[in-house]
Amino acid sequence: MAKPYIFVTRKCSTQQLQPLYEIADVEMWPEEEVPCPRDVLLEKAKTATGLLTMLSDKIDEELLSKSDNLQVIANLAVGYDNIDIQYAKSKGITVCNTPDILTDSTADLTFGLLLATARRITEAAEYVKDNQWKSWGPLLLAGYDVHHKTIGIVGMGKIGQAVAKRALGFDMNVLYHNRNPNEKVEQQLGVQYATFEELLTKSDYVVCLTPLTPQTRNLFDFEAFERMKNTAIFINVSRGAVVKEDDLYKALTQNEIAGCGLDVFVNEPISATHPLVSLRNVVALPHIGSASYETRHAMMRLCAENIYAVLQGKKPRTEVKL
Ligand code: DGY
Repeated sequence: MAKPYIFVTRKCSTQQLQPLYEIADVEMWPEEEVPCPRDVLLEKAKTATGLLTMLSDKIDEELLSKSDNLQVIANLAVGYDNIDIQYAKSKGITVCNTPDILTDSTADLTFGLLLATARRITEAAEYVKDNQWKSWGPLLLAGYDVHHKTIGIVGMGKIGQAVAKRALGFDMNVLYHNRNPNEKVEQQLGVQYATFEELLTKSDYVVCLTPLTPQTRNLFDFEAFERMKNTAIFINVSRGAVVKEDDLYKALTQNEIAGCGLDVFVNEPISATHPLVSLRNVVALPHIGSASYETRHAMMRLCAENIYAVLQGKKPRTEVKL
């Protein structure tokens, strides 16, 4: 029988993917920051038994309908909105993601971004590097306090809960919004459920961690920003498309909110000349939620483990369920 063929769509650590090399022919796109072009991906997918994909790869019907050997897709992310799951499942393809192992790293980044935005940390660091610092000033680069304020977390999954724990360490009052209230989490953490509207009105920090679904696409529109306090800070570490970026820009320039920290954008990479990025009160990051060496390596190992399991006819550890 022919050896399985696995295509890895971005340069990853071969050491972390080692088990795959024992059972399959593994080919890896050689670039770390240049994505595998669509036509190459389509071509490789036609014969691949397994794909190790990135969140920037569109795994849609066009690709899947021509991938007759494909048994498994392992996405190097917890989110999987880049994959047409329904269609993949209809073709009997197992889809896996990397939940849990990235929870704490993503929560650290989320809280770091919140602090950086509130206390203008990146702006202050640039100020020194640009040699602008002339003297100490009473309100020089003053920002907003974080401690003892109210944080509203939209999407209280595992990452949301981990952010809540960090917020409690800063003596914050924690509100959350989910499709349904979660009594267990409320009891364990001492957090409070709020309707979406209540959360927007009451929070000093609105943190978006909800997955991108048809229901959450464009959830944060001008009306949502208008409901927030004028001193509110919005943080998004989920997916860009949960936000109407033009509305966010309007809300920031009309002082409906005080600032925002964004790790994700509708179109990634966002350009440095994008109107949102050019605003002083926007901290923009290049989608690095889970980007620590330890976590990204663990994610690679989990993807390899999942592909290995499926190719051995076993149940993968973290299959995406419909
Ligand atoms: C994910 O895993 O979905 C994150 O967006 C990666 O940082």
